[in-house]
Amino acid sequence: MKTVSLIIDGKKLTAPKGERVLWAALDNDIYIPHLCAHHDNSAPDASCRLCWVEIENKSQPVTACTETVAEGMVVNTRGEAAIRLARTALELLLASNAVDCANCAKSGNCELQKIAAHLKVNLKTRRFRKILRDLPVDTSSPLFTYDPNKCVLCGQCIWVCRKQLGIGALGFAHRGFNRRMTTFNDQPIGQSACAECRECVNICPTGALCFK
Ligand code: FES
Repeated sequence: MKTVSLIIDGKKLTAPKGERVLWAALDNDIYIPHLCAHHDNSAPDASCRLCWVEIENKSQPVTACTETVAEGMVVNTRGEAAIRLARTALELLLASNAVDCANCAKSGNCELQKIAAHLKVNLKTRRFRKILRDLPVDTSSPLFTYDPNKCVLCGQCIWVCRKQLGIGALGFAHRGFNRRMTTFNDQPIGQSACAECRECVNICPTGALCFK
């Protein structure tokens, strides 16, 4: 396998040619916040806008999940501009998220909590006006619940259901603020094409999909 040498946060490392900066960093214990990327997904949506990094000789920060490693590349995951962009993305996300850690089964094992701690952002931030979606919780599956108010729209459940397993029970509906993960024809999950494999629950980074 061909590799390239690069530096991330002052650490010299090698990564497979063609690898994305995000995975090169994570594989070397350098954390970069991310919600929408998965190592097995070669075409990430790059929709969460949390994985900003700065690269020497580039005038603007770039998203680490889409940027390919290059020989001699110098990456800074803690640059001021990158952190500012990531914080803004997180605070916008939190402005429409229920954030109910005290009553959430995923508390302590939630990627949103981890990212907030890393970026030093209060989960109850008031930087942007809070507008909650107040959507009903879907309890129709015998195995798990789906709370769209805690969904971060990362698309991981949709990807694993469709691309990895070929089921396609889940998808996005609507646009903008009304965008949400749902089933075909907006059926309750328990009455949809869901095969109850539970992979969507395993991959969900927040408390949106939780085992009963
Ligand atoms: S992980 Fe890169 S934009 Fe979401």
